[in-house]
Amino acid sequence: MQRITIAIDGYSSCGKSTIAKALATKLGYSYVDSGAMYRAVTLYCLRKGIIKDAHFIREEVVKALDHIHLSFEYNSHTKASDTFLNGENVEKEIRQMEVSNNVSHISVIKEVRETMAKLQREMGKNRGVVMDGRDIGTNIFPDAELKIFMTADTVIRTQRRVDELTSKGVHVSFDEVKKNLLGRDYEDSHRKENPLRQAKDAVVLDNTDLSREEQLEFVLRLVEDLKISN
Ligand code: DC
Repeated sequence: MQRITIAIDGYSSCGKSTIAKALATKLGYSYVDSGAMYRAVTLYCLRKGIIKDAHFIREEVVKALDHIHLSFEYNSHTKASDTFLNGENVEKEIRQMEVSNNVSHISVIKEVRETMAKLQREMGKNRGVVMDGRDIGTNIFPDAELKIFMTADTVIRTQRRVDELTSKGVHVSFDEVKKNLLGRDYEDSHRKENPLRQAKDAVVLDNTDLSREEQLEFVLRLVEDLKISN
């Protein structure tokens, strides 16, 4: 079968990147974390004082886009690409709560989305890519051969995120993480530009009670089915 495009969208901290990474490794595809790009733009704006106490002037963010260069380098340890902001590896910084608390406000800006969309389409133009995010199956690659829409119980998602942050030495309370996830879900689903939506032809994967292995098996079976039908 020809190399295909796999779009994985869904709510915050559903484990999209975990399954996307495993799938890309298994298939020998590249993995693109589109959320990392919005996070890197947000980090830049925080560092430059363009975002202050969750407030910013839209035009200043748009202007900042001209000074932001994003690049990605494969990290054989994590089996995924690290995100570079103007040549600096910011993979760790973009996961901080301050970035998480502001990223949804920045990602509603049309010009930010257009700039990121251009990059994302460029990165996936040769197919053989697994990309995760919020609008990959609906907007970035509406013709993707396989679209997955992921969801999971909120308490489970929150605990997974708390565990992930704790393992990275970031200490946050359960309630703070839960508030952030629900706030982002609301904002990502209700924005005007390319909101989070389940694509009509997406397959829903609710991983509340599924192990990583079971999820990977489920998605690999979908890939196999595509092979048979093509
Ligand atoms: O996947 P993530 O949680 O790292 O994404 C961070 C934020 O970026 C998310 O809350 C909304 C935004 N985002 C987006 O608007 N569109 C995407 N395709 C990916 C992420």
